Amino acid sequence: MTEAKLEAWLDESRAFPPSPAFTAQANATLGIYETAEADPEGWWRTQADRLTWTNAPSKTLEWNPPFATWFGDGTLNAAVNCVDRHVAAGRGDKVAFHWVADATNETRTITYAQLGVLVAQAAHGLTQLGVRSGDRVAVYMPMIPEAVVAMLAIVRLGAVHSVIFGGFSADALASRIIDADCTFVVTADGAFRRGSASPLKPAVDEALLTCPNVKAVLVVKRTSGDVEWTQSRDHWWHDVVDGQPTTHEAASFPAEHPLFIMYTSGTTAKPKGIFHTTGGYLTQVATSYYYVFDVKSATDVCWTAADIGWITGHSYIVYGPLINGVTQVLYEGLPDSGGRDRWWRIVAEYGVTMLYTAPTAIRTLMKWGDELPAAHDLSSLRILGSVGEPINPEAWMWYREHVGRNRCPIVDTWWQTETGALMIAPLPGLTATKPGAAMRALPGISVDVVDNDGVTVGNGEGGYLVITKPWPSMTRGIYGDPERFAETYWSRFPGVYFAGDGAKRDLDGDLWLLGRVDDVMNISGHRLSTTEVEHALVGHPAVAEAAVVGASDETTGQAIVAFVTLKLAADDHSDHAAIIDELRHHVATTISPIAKPRQIIMTPELPKTRSGKIMRRLLRDVAEHRSMGDVTTLTDPSVVAMIAGLMETHASSED
Ligand code: PRX
Repeated sequence: MTEAKLEAWLDESRAFPPSPAFTAQANATLGIYETAEADPEGWWRTQADRLTWTNAPSKTLEWNPPFATWFGDGTLNAAVNCVDRHVAAGRGDKVAFHWVADATNETRTITYAQLGVLVAQAAHGLTQLGVRSGDRVAVYMPMIPEAVVAMLAIVRLGAVHSVIFGGFSADALASRIIDADCTFVVTADGAFRRGSASPLKPAVDEALLTCPNVKAVLVVKRTSGDVEWTQSRDHWWHDVVDGQPTTHEAASFPAEHPLFIMYTSGTTAKPKGIFHTTGGYLTQVATSYYYVFDVKSATDVCWTAADIGWITGHSYIVYGPLINGVTQVLYEGLPDSGGRDRWWRIVAEYGVTMLYTAPTAIRTLMKWGDELPAAHDLSSLRILGSVGEPINPEAWMWYREHVGRNRCPIVDTWWQTETGALMIAPLPGLTATKPGAAMRALPGISVDVVDNDGVTVGNGEGGYLVITKPWPSMTRGIYGDPERFAETYWSRFPGVYFAGDGAKRDLDGDLWLLGRVDDVMNISGHRLSTTEVEHALVGHPAVAEAAVVGASDETTGQAIVAFVTLKLAADDHSDHAAIIDELRHHVATTISPIAKPRQIIMTPELPKTRSGKIMRRLLRDVAEHRSMGDVTTLTDPSVVAMIAGLMETHASSED
């Protein structure tokens, strides 16, 4: 795209009108914004009828700020809503998942009836191991069907899953297991990545050295490698689950019964256990999936290209799509496992109608060349979704032109682990779209953009994004820390939820998300806190001090740049290049490879204010090669100039 053309697309008044292909949805849903706005609680009460309740709720919202309960007197079972009711309604033969393996030709097709059997057997297996309602069960798995089956079996029993992304280190796994006091772990012996097997269970074994409360580990055999085995604790999935009865009587639980915990990074070193409950969460994921992805349950093949280790996988691979009874692609691999056109081959082979992924993936696919999507039949696609980070107009346009062939509306969806479900997104057929804008809050959701004093900004202005009314899938808090919940989200602007994001209303009043305004970084759509990475760096014996910033990056949105001061003894004798390599490796093993700094700058000093605070704003300027603003509050302004000089001379070490 030429710069002039990009400029034209960037012009905020440039909008794509709702596509005529969505007239049916438009007609069916005309007026829903107005209906929902006139009576948001009434709107959500009606949406709750999408679920199968054992006892239908008579209550809707009870609001004791910042704590909400939704549908408080209703009872239901989450797994029954995802699976059993479709089978009972005669849709058991419908495909729930086309599972596609990493880099081989291995595939599995699982119907709703088969999924029901797998979940029933896993529920019996977990019961046999001792799992009971309310227990926390850690799930540390690759993208294989058993991951979804395990999640559904856990919630079927009223237990609570805490899925930990398979790329996290043993340390990160242990701290999450301890924080939620998980007493069971479901894992696999290994995982595949671009065709090679890598072990997963050793990380569990290492983590459990510090988790004495874990009673049993259930292990799926995925690779042919040998594994260490602790006889009294470890159990093969095929031994415990496969022979179990194929039906399972499900109990019902109150709407506010815990469903899951999902850890995410905040502004401190300790990740937060974001806690979700059942009825409200399921209502909103089902509703948002239905409207934003224009679900036509009979014909769609939906593909959320995300990992179940993140909230996107929870809400839009497991709960939202399954409640709506759609057919999905579940893909184990990376975008280039088995070739850089792998995604387009999958779309063509399965007739994918909806593709939902992150801007980082779109930018990567874009870098690999227009000819790859062009070589495949992508005519089945109807809707393209984006999530996790701001999408730049150029990537948006590429997605629209080269993947959607100018036919498919792009739904840029803003939400968070904490919001549980989509909050801001266009509706195909109803809402115009603009390259890079998430447009407007969904029906039943109230958001605002406010200035420093909490006052609504006018059109054409930017500020902080806030959510002004409670919503059904909102987190019920930080696991084990209600005060931190109130303090983190509800104290910056009293009475409203502060998301931590900047946003702008354009001249038409449409919303553009501008990224985080706090110390949370967004690397390839993954949330990491600057302090979390600093903490890992300072944990290395050679490091005296570290400051971390998220610098903008063409592909990953942001990338981690670390400024590190070594302890004198280490600095005296060492080769910096070797230490830099070692520190990057250290961060990868302490947190995860996604937290590896793109660049580490060794510096004898860090810029500090007179009160001793590290000036991260200045370091971000340095990392992004911008000229420095006001440095008068620094103890020693020359430190910044020195670091900027070092930045230019140090070679970056990138993977
Ligand atoms: O900064 C926003 C960004 O991702 C953050 C939430 O991250 P997480 O809880 O990991 O959930 C990611 C998947 C929902 C937000 O605070 N973000 C998410 N979606 C968008 C976005 N930024 C801009 N545009 C989006 N569509």
